[in-house]
Amino acid sequence: MLLDKTQLKQSFSAASSAYDALAVLQREVGLRLLQSAEMKSGYRRIMDLGCGTGFISANLNNENRHYQITALDIAYSMLSLARRQNGLKNIHYICGDAENLPLLDDRFDAVFSNVALQWCQDLPQALSELYRVLSPGGDLFFSTFGLGTLSELKSAWSEVDDYTHVNDFVSTEQLADLLSVAGFENIDIRVEDKISHYDSVMELMKELKGIGAHNVTVGRKKRLTTRGQLQKMIQAYPKRADGGIVASYRVIYVNAVKLL
Ligand SMILES: C[S@@+](CC[C@H](N)C(=O)[O-])C[C@H]1O[C@@H](n2cnc3c(N)ncnc32)[C@H](O)[C@@H]1O
Repeated sequence: MLLDKTQLKQSFSAASSAYDALAVLQREVGLRLLQSAEMKSGYRRIMDLGCGTGFISANLNNENRHYQITALDIAYSMLSLARRQNGLKNIHYICGDAENLPLLDDRFDAVFSNVALQWCQDLPQALSELYRVLSPGGDLFFSTFGLGTLSELKSAWSEVDDYTHVNDFVSTEQLADLLSVAGFENIDIRVEDKISHYDSVMELMKELKGIGAHNVTVGRKKRLTTRGQLQKMIQAYPKRADGGIVASYRVIYVNAVKLL
């Protein structure tokens, strides 16, 4: 999937102030990611990759633990909001790209990333960067959206034109292969299918736009979508009996280890 990175940064930066109020699903997934992670007593240095407004960093920066946290995001406004909300105590903020981390090798005991890696243009490259910056024995914990996510929206747009309107998502099999090629072992992958309900297709579109999840694929349509095209997509979107709609999300949770 080719992504327009400049557009991606702008889109997430523009979404920073509205993000927290809209990111209900992302919060649920983040909490589950944190709850299911087995935190080893030896952890000191932890990275929150694609930290957004800092939800994962804030949860890790608990008074009873003394982690040195690195919160990294490609979108500057997301990062500066995280910094305003979570402060500087124990957290170091870096504006950087997951696919080219401005960090030394063997740096972290654990890396967390909540619903950010699906935005990488080159996922194998990002996984290989994560492997590089983890110290031997280090844990990677992340959540991402998998194949089948927003399938209703994707198929509704396919009734209108052949442009890319929804990102491509990986399957669990692809992800397992990519992790293994990057060098990870003890790969544990879990899947949770979630359904979100909306009163209308426009409400879903508004939410996606509000959290910065714009269509930033290079294959997107560059001209404005006309009212007629939008109406055609809305008509093609499957409706519940009461006129509302659902959107499917396949959430993938991963724990993988860089062995000693
Ligand atoms: C859906 S938000 C998730 C934010 C946060 N992890 C949370 O749980 O709320 C995705 C985040 O990933 C960041 N992101 C996307 N591509 C990235 C990349 N290549 N490198 C670093 N961050 C990236 C975006 O700027 C955005 O803040």
